[in-house]
Amino acid sequence: MCGIFGIVTNNQEISVGKVVFDGIKRLEYRGYDSCGIVSLCNSKLYVKKEAGKIDEIYKNVKLDEVPDGTKLALAHTRWATHGTPTKQNSHPHLDCLNKIAVVHNGIIDNFMELRNELSSTGHTFNSDTDTEVIPHLIEDFMKKGFNLKVATINALKKCKGAYAIAVCQVDNPDTIIVARKESPLIIGIEEGKTTYCSSDIPAFLPLTRKCYIMEDNELAVLKAGEVNFFDLKNDNELIKKKIQNIEWNIDAAEKGGYEHFMLKEIYEEPNALRLTMKISEQLLSKFANALLSADNIYITAAGTSYHAALAGKFIITRFLGKHIQDIECSEFETQLKGSLQNNSVIIAISQSGETIDTIEAIRWAKKAKSVKILTITNVVGSSITRYSDHVIVTNAGPEIGVAATKTYSTQVLALALIAVSIAKIRKIISDEDIIKYYDALTGIPNIIDKFLEKNVDLIKYIVNNLEKNMNYFFLARGISIATAKEGGLKLKEVACRFIEGYSAASAKHGPISLVREGFPIIFIAPPDETYNRLVGNVMEFKSRGGRIISVVVESDVKITKLSDITIRIPQPADKYHNLFSPITFMPALQLLAYYAALAHDLDPDKPLNLSKTVTVH
Ligand code: G6P
Repeated sequence: MCGIFGIVTNNQEISVGKVVFDGIKRLEYRGYDSCGIVSLCNSKLYVKKEAGKIDEIYKNVKLDEVPDGTKLALAHTRWATHGTPTKQNSHPHLDCLNKIAVVHNGIIDNFMELRNELSSTGHTFNSDTDTEVIPHLIEDFMKKGFNLKVATINALKKCKGAYAIAVCQVDNPDTIIVARKESPLIIGIEEGKTTYCSSDIPAFLPLTRKCYIMEDNELAVLKAGEVNFFDLKNDNELIKKKIQNIEWNIDAAEKGGYEHFMLKEIYEEPNALRLTMKISEQLLSKFANALLSADNIYITAAGTSYHAALAGKFIITRFLGKHIQDIECSEFETQLKGSLQNNSVIIAISQSGETIDTIEAIRWAKKAKSVKILTITNVVGSSITRYSDHVIVTNAGPEIGVAATKTYSTQVLALALIAVSIAKIRKIISDEDIIKYYDALTGIPNIIDKFLEKNVDLIKYIVNNLEKNMNYFFLARGISIATAKEGGLKLKEVACRFIEGYSAASAKHGPISLVREGFPIIFIAPPDETYNRLVGNVMEFKSRGGRIISVVVESDVKITKLSDITIRIPQPADKYHNLFSPITFMPALQLLAYYAALAHDLDPDKPLNLSKTVTVH
């Protein structure tokens, strides 16, 4: 949550205002409650900030216009935690003398104490944020004679909590100080010319592919085309870090002709899945063997990744012969305190690799017992990877749309590949069956391609047909409960409808009482072992006036007859494909959510109150 971006350059050709504006726009998925930019020129700070989304702000405040000759600027896009989303609470925050500016992603837990202390010594605050204590602390230390770097180090020593910060000060016009603890921060560099700091890589990718990924408790001094890193835990010693070369295609972080990132990312699913199929056999068997030798297995994640965990758990247990307990990451410690045992394995899933609740869950488990962490993430070098024994990177490419789409499918695919690897090691199914499961997995991208080619009009028709409805059920049985929950979450996130994604069997124990004539119910109905019972559930809802929309395979007959509308997934009706239906059925539901958002005049890339990367508890 919150994005920070900064640039310091000696390159006369660069328009600092444009670069910093474009950079922060690329980070808008991290929060869009407000935006601010500070530029430093002629020993003065120029601040422009406002509440709202960047494009809306831009109509009145030209954020990209900075004074001629500006060589240094910082920017921030906010997801509000402390203080309402107002102009006053927008970053950057300044000290009393308007000499120091700070942008911050994270939370300073002890800000109240610090604020009281600072107020009592004469500091005045202009916002309700936790961040504002930082420039004032730096101001105090600079007054005591410390230079900007040491003053920042001293200020951070007083702060408890999480941060990625960037600081500038008028008497140091060629320097940005950055530091990181528990919130991501990357340094991009064009050697000898320009240095960038950013909450993620795609934000500076059009400018440079060379970067350093900062670790917790590191501070860096950025000058034009030059950077030095210091270890805050080890006497602020100078450290050498390895430069990384980013291979991502720049187009992957742009909309490429699509109206929204969400739509582009749905269409990218087939390729993302093809790339994810390439996860090495060796890595898969490391995951498989760890699971096979574990005494207890847990799977944990948040949001969409948690739904991927539910689907993946189902697929893996088919072949594993052991129970896997799913626990939402925010509940992990609370629920397992006192019962977590040594020799447990925890599968942690996080597309960003930065969700604080997921990271804390595994950190706690590692500290408490001798456990192994197997992680699935989409971001190489993300924070979660530091606490993991083995890591699968899903290869979905950058996902910018706040609602996760292609990262969900690739997470489920990675879990399915682990499942087949387990089946192979355990030899519990025939070689012929193993090949058929692999073939089914390899065929998924083509099934999705075919679906996307032919069904957009149908999805738009359904959206128009349902337009006025505020409430929906997404119902299913077995493995498809995960699909129902995730399909429901998508519609909830981007189209602001109220959805209950639920077990079709359990729905008669309560939720069914809401059904009236025309109430829309979306049944997820692959022809697996739950199908015949699901037919019964469809009838229960139909007989009470429910409008039935079902997602079925092409050859489906029974549920089709009971449905008002069917969405048909072009896949064979066999057990091999059924097991992977959480992947093949999902694009239909993602598209439904996408077009529903458009029908309600909502921006699917920026759902209300959400942020793609949640770095607060
Ligand atoms: C936020 C996002 C969701 C995402 C969840 C978990 O809530 O809005 O789309 O599923 O975080 O994120 P992660 O990066 O850990 O998968």
